[in-house]
Amino acid sequence: MFKDKKIAFYVTGGIAVYKSIQLMRDLIKLGAEVKVAMTPAAAEFVAPLTFQVLSKNAVHMDTFSEELPQYVQHIHLADWADLNIVAPATANTVAKLAHGFADNFVTSALLATTSPLFVVPAMNEHMYEHPATQENLQILQNRGAYIMEPETGFLAEGYSGKGRFPESAAIIEALESFLIDLDEQLPLKGKSILITAGGTKERIDPVRYISNDSSGKMGHALAEAACRQGAEVTLITASSLPVHKKIRTISIDSAAALYKEVDQRFDQTDALIMAAAVSDYAPAHQADHKMKKQDQLTIELKKNRDILKAMGKKKAHQILIGFAAETEHIEQYALKKLKEKNLDMIVANDVGQSDRGFNTDQNEVTIYFRAEEPATILLTDKTKVAEKIVQLLIQQME
Ligand code: CTP
Repeated sequence: MFKDKKIAFYVTGGIAVYKSIQLMRDLIKLGAEVKVAMTPAAAEFVAPLTFQVLSKNAVHMDTFSEELPQYVQHIHLADWADLNIVAPATANTVAKLAHGFADNFVTSALLATTSPLFVVPAMNEHMYEHPATQENLQILQNRGAYIMEPETGFLAEGYSGKGRFPESAAIIEALESFLIDLDEQLPLKGKSILITAGGTKERIDPVRYISNDSSGKMGHALAEAACRQGAEVTLITASSLPVHKKIRTISIDSAAALYKEVDQRFDQTDALIMAAAVSDYAPAHQADHKMKKQDQLTIELKKNRDILKAMGKKKAHQILIGFAAETEHIEQYALKKLKEKNLDMIVANDVGQSDRGFNTDQNEVTIYFRAEEPATILLTDKTKVAEKIVQLLIQQME
């Protein structure tokens, strides 16, 4: 998402300047080209040289030090940028931006830019909560800027309050959401996609359950990949892996709970990807209290409903994608499931090998379709497998 993105990174004068270095580095690691401009106040906290060395670009500070006569530097930076980030943004700079001041390099360039603006305010709690600052932030937001909410926690003043510069990972997550929302050209814009993930848990008693080795990694990677392509993603998951804030997440444990959540959303969904490893059976009776040790124990199991098959029967306009976890006769079983469950695609993987599939970071899969030739994705990271599956889904939706 940040690959080859041209980011103008504006640093204004608050103690959080030292934290913005990490954000800049992370954006560069993600493939962005970053050019920095600082206010003189920002340079009181961290020397411009630090930003210059790490961004590998000269840092702009003085509107009138026009070293390259062919360019007006602040206009050149404003025109060059695909995206503008102000991090940290002080109350003073926020006020200037809201009211169109252009009294230093940063405010002049930001007045001249036409590309999106992302603002990370960081300041003392009372400065942040002041009606003037709140109104100024509102003005910027009304103009289309993204205003990141500061964190609450220990401030440089020695007390706890709202105004902290968030962790770099949280800022990048918000930036991704902002860019996805802005890009109307993304292929899954306006599409609603339901994805299930993880191994269901079928309770025997309050502390014991039957489950399987699924980690949920594949389903979560699919949710992120579909989200990056602009889809409105709902992830119904039995896994506790972290999820991007832009993805609506519903946590479930049992197959019955998963059925209910899928069923009630299916009609409004454009595609369903069932990556969850749904337990085929559940205990016929769930004990209310922890079961006591016995010499012999027999647990009666009842068959769970096949969620995908049920949705296959209900299917109208939806694209249905299933997974086939197999240890033998992969193609034969996958094609049988494709037909019996009325699917458009089935992703077959060999769960009998320890380097792929269940509970690993990698996967190798073959995708079977109703009419087209199958497609194989050779052993690679689940994030890459997910991206390719989503590309195939996009083709099916066209
Ligand atoms: N599935 C489902 N509901 C179930 C069982 C499976 O929706 N009760 C879905 C899975 O999420 C997967 C597909 O059906 O997308 C195939 O699951 P898999 O476990 O490979 O096959 P089963 O249909 O359970 O058949 P078998 O266990 O005999 O291979």
